[in-house]
Amino acid sequence: MAAIEIVEGDITQLDVDAIVNAANESLLGGGGVDGAIHRAAGPDLLAECRSLGGCPTGEARITKGYRLMARHVIHTVGPVWRGGVANEPELLAKCYTNSLALAVVHGLNSIAFPAISTGVYGYPKEPATNIAVRQARMIRMPERIIFCCFDATTAELYREIIARTA
Ligand code: APR
Repeated sequence: MAAIEIVEGDITQLDVDAIVNAANESLLGGGGVDGAIHRAAGPDLLAECRSLGGCPTGEARITKGYRLMARHVIHTVGPVWRGGVANEPELLAKCYTNSLALAVVHGLNSIAFPAISTGVYGYPKEPATNIAVRQARMIRMPERIIFCCFDATTAELYREIIARTA
């Protein structure tokens, strides 16, 4: 089983094989972690993203990391929360499984996730965290899965759910 780690901080500062971007379907950047990753990676990231032609919700695409310490960025598009009646749980789970599958296909050993969909997209944090932890526990590779939480509340929630569901 993959080793799961919780860190608190800015995902753009992590020295890992891949950081995951909570993007939108255009893959052309935005605010939140998407904005932070594009700012840190530099304009070549956007240039490569333009060549990908977008990404449907629940799917994932991989690019280089450019100026980031991370060697790659895995862009995934989380569901917008619409009250839980629009397949959001299944789509959010797919973000994690598709991102992890890309990491395995590319032989990556470490991947860091932000709390996908829990910001602008409004997904309630607790159910989103349950999905993230459950999906991470279902696979053996990559060796290191890091959940990078931007604030203490989110980090506490991840630690609590990991302890409760161990
Ligand atoms: N490092 C780690 N986590 C971060 C960072 C960062 N630098 N910046 C924000 N976050 C956290 C937020 O606090 C939240 O917990 O990432 C999580 C996801 O929030 P958003 O970035 O708002 O992403 P999401 O809710 O998936 O909405 C995606 O927002 O930025 C746009 O283009 C993006 O349209 C897309 C939408």
